[in-house]
Amino acid sequence: MKIIITGGTGFIGTALCNLISREAHELVLFSRSIHPKKKLQQAVVRYVQWNAGEEGEWQNEIEGASVVINLAGKNLFEHRWNKKIKKEIWNSRILATKKLVEAVQSARHKPELLISASAVGVYGNRGSELLNEQSSTGNDFLANLVAAWEKEAFNAEQAGVRVATPRIGLVLEKSGGIIERMLLPFKLCAGGPIGSGEQILSWIHMADVVRGIIFPIENKNFSGVYNLTAPNAVTMKEFSKIFGKILHRPSRLPVPKAALKILFGEAAEAIVSSQHAVPEKLLHAGFSFSFPEITSALENILNPQS
Ligand SMILES: NC(=O)c1ccc[n+]([C@@H]2O[C@H](COP(=O)([O-])OP(=O)(O)OC[C@H]3O[C@@H](n4cnc5c(N)ncnc54)[C@H](OP(=O)(O)O)[C@@H]3O)[C@@H](O)[C@H]2O)c1
Repeated sequence: MKIIITGGTGFIGTALCNLISREAHELVLFSRSIHPKKKLQQAVVRYVQWNAGEEGEWQNEIEGASVVINLAGKNLFEHRWNKKIKKEIWNSRILATKKLVEAVQSARHKPELLISASAVGVYGNRGSELLNEQSSTGNDFLANLVAAWEKEAFNAEQAGVRVATPRIGLVLEKSGGIIERMLLPFKLCAGGPIGSGEQILSWIHMADVVRGIIFPIENKNFSGVYNLTAPNAVTMKEFSKIFGKILHRPSRLPVPKAALKILFGEAAEAIVSSQHAVPEKLLHAGFSFSFPEITSALENILNPQS
C-alpha cells in the first residue's frame, strides 16, 4: 500500500513512520527538504520535496496512493506569537492542506483515505467541561485555526475520499514536547506545574497516538473528527506531582502565567488553556489504549527499565 505522509520528519511523524514501516508499505514523505536532518533509516522511505501550499512535482505522487496522512505545520510553540508568526502558523496548515486536497481531488486514481491532523485546541479554553466529538468548538486563534484546518481536509469528501481528522491531545514522549521541556528543571529540583496547575491536560502517550492515527486505515467504516487523547485526563498539578514522584524530585516551583506571557506572548494563553477531551468515538469503535492512565504512561517514558 502506498502511504504518503506530510510532516513525517517531525515529533509524531518520526514515530508514525517507524510504526508504519514495520509493515511492507511504500512510504513516501513530503518534506520541505529532501535531506531532512532527522533522516529516517527505513529503506522503504522515499522523500519528495514539497513547499507546502505551492504547486510542484509532489502533486504527481498522489496518483495511485492509497492513504495520505497530513501532519505538516509550523510548530506552535517554537516562537513567540506575533502577526508574522501567526500568519506562518496559519498558512503552513491551511494553505498546505488546501493544496494537498486539490491534488487529491484532481488525481485520476484518488486515495481512499485522507487522515489530517487536528488538535484538542479546537475546543478553546473549557475548564473541566467534558468534551466529546459533538461538543462545540472555541473561538480563540488556535480554535479558529484548527477548525479551518479540519474544514480544508473535509473538502476531500467532495471527491469521494474518506476523511478522518484526529483531534490530538498533548503528546507524551521523552524526545520532545512537554516532557523534554520539563525534564531539565525537574532534574535541577526546580520543577513544578505550568500556570495555575488547575487546567486539565488531555494528554496521550506517543505509542497510542501513532496507533490512533492509523486506526482509520484498519477500520474502513471509521471517519470524521475524533478525539485522540487518553481516556483519563489530569490536571497540570497532578501531572507535575506524578512527574516529580517518578523522578524522585520535588514539584513545588510553578511557572507563573506572567512568565509564560513574557516568553511566549499570546501563545501563553494556549499553553495554559484547559480541555477535558474524552475519546468517545475511539472507545466506541473498540480502540484499546496501551497507556490509559498517566502514572503508567509517565513510568514508561521516564523510567523505561522499571
Ligand atoms: N505534538 C503534539 O503534542 C501535538 C498535539 C496536537 C496536534 N499536533 C499537530 O500534529 C502535527 C504533527 O505534530 P508534531 O509535534 O510532530 O509537529 P513537529 O514536530 O513540529 O513537525 C511538523 C512537521 O511539519 C513540517 N513543517 C514545519 N514547519 C513547517 C512550515 N512552516 N510549513 C510547512 N511544513 C512545516 C516539518 O516537516 P518538514 O521539515 O519535513 O517539511 C515538521 O517536521 C502538527 O501539525 C501539530 O500541530 C501535535
